[in-house]
Amino acid sequence: MDSTFMTATAHTNIALIKYWGKKNAFLNLPTTSSLSLTLDRFYTTTSVSPSETSTDTFVLNEQVCDATRVHTFLKILRTQLGDFPPLHVSSDNHVPTSAGLASSASAFAALTGEVVAYLGLDLPKETLSRLARRGSGSASRSFFGHFAVWHEGVDDDSSFAESLHAPDMPIALIVAEVSGQSKKVGSSEGMMRAMTSPNYDDWVKQSANQFDDMTAAVANADIEKIGAIAENNALAMHALNLTATRQPFTYFTDETQLILSLIKDMRRQGILAYATLDAGPNVKIVTTKAQAPEIVAALHDYLPQLKLDVAVSGPGITYD
Ligand code: DP6
Repeated sequence: MDSTFMTATAHTNIALIKYWGKKNAFLNLPTTSSLSLTLDRFYTTTSVSPSETSTDTFVLNEQVCDATRVHTFLKILRTQLGDFPPLHVSSDNHVPTSAGLASSASAFAALTGEVVAYLGLDLPKETLSRLARRGSGSASRSFFGHFAVWHEGVDDDSSFAESLHAPDMPIALIVAEVSGQSKKVGSSEGMMRAMTSPNYDDWVKQSANQFDDMTAAVANADIEKIGAIAENNALAMHALNLTATRQPFTYFTDETQLILSLIKDMRRQGILAYATLDAGPNVKIVTTKAQAPEIVAALHDYLPQLKLDVAVSGPGITYD
């Protein structure tokens, strides 16, 4: 196969146990292990070819973009994999960029897989995840379908993701896109601020317990428990942002709060619905495939303008 015509596709993932803090920013080592579900609906497709200039170039959704972050990451790959000439990177993002849907997860996973394949190397997904981690932490989990864990590790070698080998289950995730606008505080900056919260150490300890409980809930395909733990973990993460001693902030808008209270109401009516939120105002609702349409209809009644997408478990990285 002519590798210059090959593309890699990686799907984004939603963390059910969050990564929210770095113990080593250079190596991107997280303070906690995290656990995610890969989503079918949102993905990035990337191809690379030799650059026609003397530097790395980057086109996203057919528009020439600033290549700084791509170039910084390719420099890391050059030290890890051996030097290679400047590349032209072309990506199509099927994720609303920077709206708190972690487009960087699918983007850096696809880029890592694509470059490694382009160089003719055959590396295990765990090794790819370790490399992609340096581009964006959440990308480490996007090589694997269904559920993945990213082990926090203590150094570059031990911080990688792998598949959780979970049973099939009818889990669904509704994405309520509150705002398509770019987030105001990027994840790396948000994490740095959150780590100044007096509650940060407790959150790290609580996260380790929740990680164990979540692993058991996933093994038992207990979607109710998966949702409940995910919601607790996410709300505690967002409480850190509010209680930061340096530049406290929140990603929540009034609409975010309204959706969170609607989800509580639905639960009182016996509907399985739990919220999780990332570095933006969007609310992601953990539910079952069977109950998703009812939740979508209820939210649509209250907020007719709200953009709603239903995602289910998605695949790991693929190459065409
Ligand atoms: C809230 O992976 O975007 O989505 O490593 O600094 O690029 P960097 O951060 P990033 O952070 C994702 C944070 C999160 C939670 C998660 O995906 O685990």
